[in-house]
Amino acid sequence: MGVNTRTPLIAGNWKMNLDHLQAVAFVQKLHWTLKEAKHEDDSVEVAVFPPFTDLRSVQTLIDADKIPFALGAQDVSAHDSGAYTGEISGSFLSQLDARYVIIGHSERREYHSETDEIVNAKVKAALKHGLTPVICVGETADDLERFGASAVPAEQLKGALAGVSASADIVVAYEPVWAIGSGQAATPQQAQDVCAVLRGVLASALNDDAAARTRILYGGSVKAANIAGFMREPDVDGALVGGASLVVDEFASIIRFQKHVGV
Ligand code: PGA
Repeated sequence: MGVNTRTPLIAGNWKMNLDHLQAVAFVQKLHWTLKEAKHEDDSVEVAVFPPFTDLRSVQTLIDADKIPFALGAQDVSAHDSGAYTGEISGSFLSQLDARYVIIGHSERREYHSETDEIVNAKVKAALKHGLTPVICVGETADDLERFGASAVPAEQLKGALAGVSASADIVVAYEPVWAIGSGQAATPQQAQDVCAVLRGVLASALNDDAAARTRILYGGSVKAANIAGFMREPDVDGALVGGASLVVDEFASIIRFQKHVGV
């Protein structure tokens, strides 16, 4: 599929952690840590995904201090506005300069019964409001045993992309559910195998150009000690990091994966 010109993306999914005061302190400390390490900002894109109530504070900080992190939200409503108690419109997020939004995380699929149809509607809503959806797919341990690793994520991605334009700016995150928060990450080879299948889905559901340009992240127990192995794989373009994105030194080290031995 030609030369890989995809900029690596390291994304921190904070889930329901860090209030707005803690969020500001965390982002400042992460920025200082990377500055002190003389990290080259252009070599990798960094995105943080705080809870909704933190977004305004983090946006203000990033803007005032010219911190080169992209901002993302952890979910978005499929609707634009109206009587949808508790939901957040994509237009509110884009007005806060959010660039990304996570859609279809396994915790939303499991605890909020999000189906592929809901995920698809949210992807379209995000795109409509100028946000880049980070579409999460992944198999459970049971799926893995019954269908192998790639069948369920491939179906989920197909469902998420129904009716989406080939020119749309999207990110895909392959997150095996059994690897999330378990300390038991997939191997780089397992991640590569599924990410390659998902790139094939991008080619058939969108087109070859979209497949070549779209970043596919791996997620599930990523930490400083294993990031380099994933990033060496040709179809893994970054990571969606949960627990380890809440520890400044650990997340800074993940961002600096290019400095790790052998990469
Ligand atoms: P984890 O979470 O890194 O804590 O396994 C990843 C995720 O859920 O996005």
